[in-house]
Amino acid sequence: MNDRDIERVREREFPLTERVTYLDFATFGPLPTSHVRAASEALAAEAAKGSAGLDGTALLESVREEAAALLHSPARNVCLLTSTSEGMGLVAAGLPWRAGDEVIVPEQEFEGCVAPFLSLGDVTVRVARAVAEIPDLVGERTRAVALSLVDRIGGARAPVEAIAAACREHDTWLALDAAQAMGVLDLDAPALGADVVCAHGYKFLVSGFGLAPTYCSDRALAELRVPRPGWKNAGVGHGSAARFEPTMSSIPVLAGMRESLRLLNSLDAVERERRALDTARGIAQGLAARGFQVREQRSSLVSAPHPDAETLATRLHERGIVAAAVEGNLRLSTHFFTTDSDVQALLDAL
Ligand SMILES: Cc1ncc(COP(=O)(O)O)c(C=O)c1O
Repeated sequence: MNDRDIERVREREFPLTERVTYLDFATFGPLPTSHVRAASEALAAEAAKGSAGLDGTALLESVREEAAALLHSPARNVCLLTSTSEGMGLVAAGLPWRAGDEVIVPEQEFEGCVAPFLSLGDVTVRVARAVAEIPDLVGERTRAVALSLVDRIGGARAPVEAIAAACREHDTWLALDAAQAMGVLDLDAPALGADVVCAHGYKFLVSGFGLAPTYCSDRALAELRVPRPGWKNAGVGHGSAARFEPTMSSIPVLAGMRESLRLLNSLDAVERERRALDTARGIAQGLAARGFQVREQRSSLVSAPHPDAETLATRLHERGIVAAAVEGNLRLSTHFFTTDSDVQALLDAL
């Protein structure tokens, strides 16, 4: 896609970009027009045709295919859960834990990533002061490591290769929260070496609430217990991640997500990531030039501490820039259709 094509995508799919400079995908990704149309049509069909309008199974399978394409994964390794926390919970609730087992999580990790491990009886949750320390902390007792691929506050991309290598060496399970990465970064889920890679649809997947595409490794398919048994997964064996789907998902949400994922897959994955990282880098450089302390991030999130980040975000909002204030930081986030004009509009408004 060239810049003209991107302009057309903005006009056709994201009309809000005509009104505002949207730099807050890390909180919520606006729904593309095609998503809204497909979801609305599915709702109307449910009302008008009843059971004749459903055809949910074929729809769900096509969403699984799109999600698998996005993750460079076989479709049989992908399931559709309801949240990122549920994805992390596959490992927490699915493993037969032993007394003395330990789980490693980073300090300041998102609560949803950690919470599923907190209620496990004899299991110690060990906190790493920095993600870079995790490979050295993984040892004989470490049964699982859980962390975000991209940190939601600072935007740092975790050193997943080193963490996955340490986990492999100790037969440790690895669960990755990809909420701040999936849909924008080029994620090759099988190559990451994790057992679970999960993201809810409402951020960079521009798919709204309700569905969380989740990659499960072959080991996860073979060994994890099913935390939510139901009619739909009762007969599914260990060969498919559909074993973690207990019931039918909302058909309008599926229909909308299929369009959102098609849109993301319509770009080459490397190009999709490059575009978002280029504008993120432009923002980082512009902020640094204006005296902000910007951290190195390698993601599409740019974050800088600010003594009154809330007020600054509100002020930006008044000037048509959608940004976020997160724990004392101004946070900007970009997607493949963020443009240099968006970056300039932000920098002019600061
Ligand atoms: C890192 C991270 N993970 C997960 C989520 C969302 O979690 P859930 O899908 O459980 O709502 C967020 C939302 O802000 C997040 O920042």
